[in-house]
Formats: sequence, structure tokens, C-alpha cells
Amino acid sequence: MTYTVVQWATGAVGKTCLRAVLDHPGLELAGLYVYSGRKAGQDAGTIARYPETGIIATRDIDEILALDADVVIHTARLQLPYEQHDQDLCALLRSGKNVITTAGHHYPAAHGPARLAMFDEAGRVGGATLYGTGMNPGYVLERLVLGLTGVCTDVQRIEVTELLNAATMPDPDFVFTVMGMGSAPARLDLRAGPLAVLFGKLYAEAITFVADRMHVPLEEIQPDHTVRAAERDLEVSAGRIPAGTVAATEWRWHAISAGRRFLTLSVIWTMDPELDGYAGRNHWTVDIEGRPDLHLSLDMSDPPGTGLRTKAGQYVTAGAVINAIPAVVAAPPGVFTPPVFAPFARP
Ligand SMILES: NC(=O)c1ccc[n+]([C@@H]2O[C@H](COP(=O)([O-])OP(=O)(O)OC[C@H]3O[C@@H](n4cnc5c(N)ncnc54)[C@H](OP(=O)(O)O)[C@@H]3O)[C@@H](O)[C@H]2O)c1
Repeated sequence: MTYTVVQWATGAVGKTCLRAVLDHPGLELAGLYVYSGRKAGQDAGTIARYPETGIIATRDIDEILALDADVVIHTARLQLPYEQHDQDLCALLRSGKNVITTAGHHYPAAHGPARLAMFDEAGRVGGATLYGTGMNPGYVLERLVLGLTGVCTDVQRIEVTELLNAATMPDPDFVFTVMGMGSAPARLDLRAGPLAVLFGKLYAEAITFVADRMHVPLEEIQPDHTVRAAERDLEVSAGRIPAGTVAATEWRWHAISAGRRFLTLSVIWTMDPELDGYAGRNHWTVDIEGRPDLHLSLDMSDPPGTGLRTKAGQYVTAGAVINAIPAVVAAPPGVFTPPVFAPFARP
């Protein structure tokens, strides 16, 4: 069976998905939506640095809505507010296209029944399904961690840590203004501000999904974010980070159940992977305290010699999208809840 695919946005992840679609014998590109005026009118192959495809990029949403396609791969940039993409996603669903997005929407139910009902209703109208995925959020907690709990006879506590070396991030505006790197530690409050709201909503979905699947009543998600200062002057891709200014942000949430921390998720971005306590650590670590205790450590490497700038983190995100297509297309209309086989669950 061949699935027809529209690619929506061609940033780092979008281009990786686009190439994966063009490479895949079971997928056929049917359309391409871009935000950039420079890319509009270009052949999809040119944007992907592949041979021409005959599919021309458009900025006209109505052109995309009018297409006949099985699925839209939506890899738009997360925007403020978090709900910024709702209108486009609902329009795509109502037009009869299944949507797999990497821009949030991993578990809309985490934000209450009204938000879930909105996407379910759009899906019902178009007979289409919405699925938000990626590596984290999307895979690490929702599939790896939940899967691991399935070999425990008891789970008391889960700790998941992501450690991302952000020193190669090229965009100074994102690194210094959005992430707050290079600012005075006392002046960067990770509990307030736009990024805190965005991240809080995004990761609450993954955390709530885990708690719901394990039948763990979630009382509260407590933010516990901190920053680390540079121990030396740093030269990174985006510019200079003087010693004493922010070199790492540690985003951390504790899921509270029965008055104690049941799950802790840390997402650490560092401009200095050698900072005390970071060196030698893998990209993700999972520690499950229970019967038995389990420890998982996962890393990834950039594939050599592709001639592309695509990083391992973009491949894993695209992989989670591409491999979900048959299940999402086959799923009933509404928000897709990915299957989890036999996690540990409280009775
Ligand atoms: N869950 C995960 O593990 C995971 C991992 C990585 C990324 N992500 C998510 O995947 C998405 C894509 O990431 P990325 O690394 O590809 O980002 P990116 O390189 O910044 O590219 C995002 C693309 O969004 C489009 N864009 C431009 N202006 C926009 C606007 N105002 N609103 C929405 N989109 C706009 C552009 O598309 P055109 O260039 O086509 O015009 C841009 O290239 C993001 O939402 C990111 O948070 C998730």
C-alpha cells in the first residue's frame, strides 16, 4: 500500500521527514507547505537537495486543504502561545487528512476535556486522526519508559533525564534571547516567561500520558528549574558565553502522586558538556525504582558521510513520525492514543 503525504514546513526536522518520504517506497509526496517566501514556488526536491519531484512548495493553506492525501507531516516551529497551531491542525483534520505533528499535541487530554474534544470533533468531521510525536516528547517517556515498566512487578518512582549539548546551536537569537544563555543567572527566571509556559504545557502532556497509562493519579506537576553558570569563557556556535553567565538550563518537573514525587523529568540544555556532573553522560538516562530497579542509558550518533547536515536528533524525530503513518491512517477519527503494551499499572 502506498500512502500519500503532504509535508508541512521544511526546517531541520521537516527536511529530514521530506527526504524520508522521498526515499520510502511506500510513501508518495502529494504536497508541500512552507512558511518562507523564499522557498515558496521551489520544487520539493530542490528544498530537500534531492532531484526534482514535480511537487511545488506553497504558502497557500487552501491549496493544501484541497489536496487529496492520506497524511500531513506537520513539523512547524512551536510558537507562542502553545495553541498557535490549533487552527491549522483542525482545518487539516476537517479537510479529511490525518495529521502527525512534531509541534506538541502529544496528549491534548493533559490540558482538560475541552481541548481533547476540539481535536476529536475536527477529526470526526473529516474522518481523520491527529497524533503528536517525536523523541522527547513522543517516544522516550511514552514508549521507552512505559515499555520498561512492563517488566516490573512494582514501580515506586521514575526519573528520566535528557542532556542535550546545545553548543552547536547556530541561531544567536534563539540561544541568547529565547534560551537565556549568557545572561546573568539571577536575572533568568525559568518559572516565568514565555519559554517556561511553552515547555510546561509541552512536557505536561508526556508526563500525564505516563501517569494515565500507569493508572497513577496525578495530583500536580511541580516545576523545579535551575540554571548553571559557565565555569570558563565559552566560544559556541551562536557566540560567546562569558564565565559566570548562564551556560546551562535545567528544566525539571516532578509529577506528584500520593503526596510524593512519582516521576521526575529533567531536560538539560548545556553550552558546556564538560560542566561538573555532565561529562560522560548519555543523552537520555532512565532510572526506575521498583521491583526490580531498572537503569537505561541511551545515546545516539550522527550518521557519517551523508553529505547532509542532518543530526541524529532529527533522524530519531523523523523516524518516530514516518513509522507511525500506517497506524495513524488506520486509527479511528480523533486524537490518536499510541498503543502501549502492558506497562506496569496500579490496579
Ligand atoms: N519531540 C521531539 O523530540 C522534537 C525534536 C525536534 C523538534 N521537535 C519539534 O519539531 C518542530 C520542528 O523542529 P525543527 O528543528 O525542524 O525547527 P526549525 O528548524 O526551527 O524549523 C521549523 C520550520 O517552521 C517553519 N516556520 C517558520 N515560521 C513559522 C511560524 N511563524 N510558525 C510555525 N512554523 C514556522 C519554517 O518552515 P519553512 O522553512 O518550510 O518555511 C521552519 O523551517 C518544532 O516544533 C520542534 O519543537 C520535536
